[in-house]
Amino acid sequence: MDDGGVRTLDWVGGGEAGGGAVEMVDQTALPAAYTVLRIDSVPDMVAAIRRLSVRGAPAIGVAGAFGVALAVQAHGTSGPAFDEAVASLRGARPTAVNLARMVDRAAARAPDGFDAVLAEAQAIRDEELAASVAMGNLGADLVLELTGRDDVRAMTICNTGGLATVERGTALAVIQTLHERGRLAEALALETRPLLQGARLTAWELDRMGAPHRLLVDSAGPFMLARGEADVVLTGADRVAANGDTANKIGTFSLALGARHAGVPFIVVAPESTVDADTPDGAGIAIEDRGADEVVSLAGVSTAPDGTAAANPAFDVTPAELITAVVTDQRIVRLDQHQTPG
Ligand code: MRU
Repeated sequence: MDDGGVRTLDWVGGGEAGGGAVEMVDQTALPAAYTVLRIDSVPDMVAAIRRLSVRGAPAIGVAGAFGVALAVQAHGTSGPAFDEAVASLRGARPTAVNLARMVDRAAARAPDGFDAVLAEAQAIRDEELAASVAMGNLGADLVLELTGRDDVRAMTICNTGGLATVERGTALAVIQTLHERGRLAEALALETRPLLQGARLTAWELDRMGAPHRLLVDSAGPFMLARGEADVVLTGADRVAANGDTANKIGTFSLALGARHAGVPFIVVAPESTVDADTPDGAGIAIEDRGADEVVSLAGVSTAPDGTAAANPAFDVTPAELITAVVTDQRIVRLDQHQTPG
């Protein structure tokens, strides 16, 4: 991200003696306002992750790693307060494997001091940056091969762009790469109720990259596929299990069913940091439940009778058999050819 001179998130200033902080674009305020938050404590980082000021699997992994540097600034490199801070970062959201994994990676460097922890977090940031470029290229090559089209109509859900990573993204990086190669006819973005990451964030990013796009209500996705209006579905992932079952934003499973019905390739794009070989299949993935408020209201306005009960799973699991391929920064795993990522 180049707006306001910052990436989606980054470490600024300070050192072992304190004063360092994380600057992040507040994704809850977009597209109405481009606001940069300064987060200088672990509780504030946990709150930012929980309320989705920073969101998307790779981005919360980077945020968690920087959070460990904040923990060292506040509590030193060991002791109950440090352990508690690390645990609170680790548990801020359950579904994306990146968060716990990157917190653990940064915390493992604590015995070597603040500089080592910060260097590890910055290395994680840089790895995610490079991964986005690699996924964009690998994914665009695969899309062109599978669709055989000169110009591609690509459907996507949630937000998987630079906002969800550090720059460029995962599935949206593939769309951006197609656009840069002059091979994108149109992106079709699902709005992604209840929090509208597709409408608020993906439409904003597509507009900024000058890519042709239209927004759909979520329930229009499968029908648009059945009507032949897209050549490929590209989604991100919060966790890819060893057998290829994939947790991603709620609505992804319906889209995969629609893609299978329409005979359209369904491609998951996610860095290796999101592939969890320790989870054998989707049944082992914890699905975050965000509570009723987000369902019974929209932008703070009530949309259901007072007291209406609601279920709000934030993610679903798409079975491997509905996925054509998983594209990571290092490989293409063809699930339709019985390969597995784990
Ligand atoms: O609840 P969110 O907005 O964090 O959900 C994000 C997603 O589901 C993304 O598709 C996923 O994290 C991949 S982001 C590159």
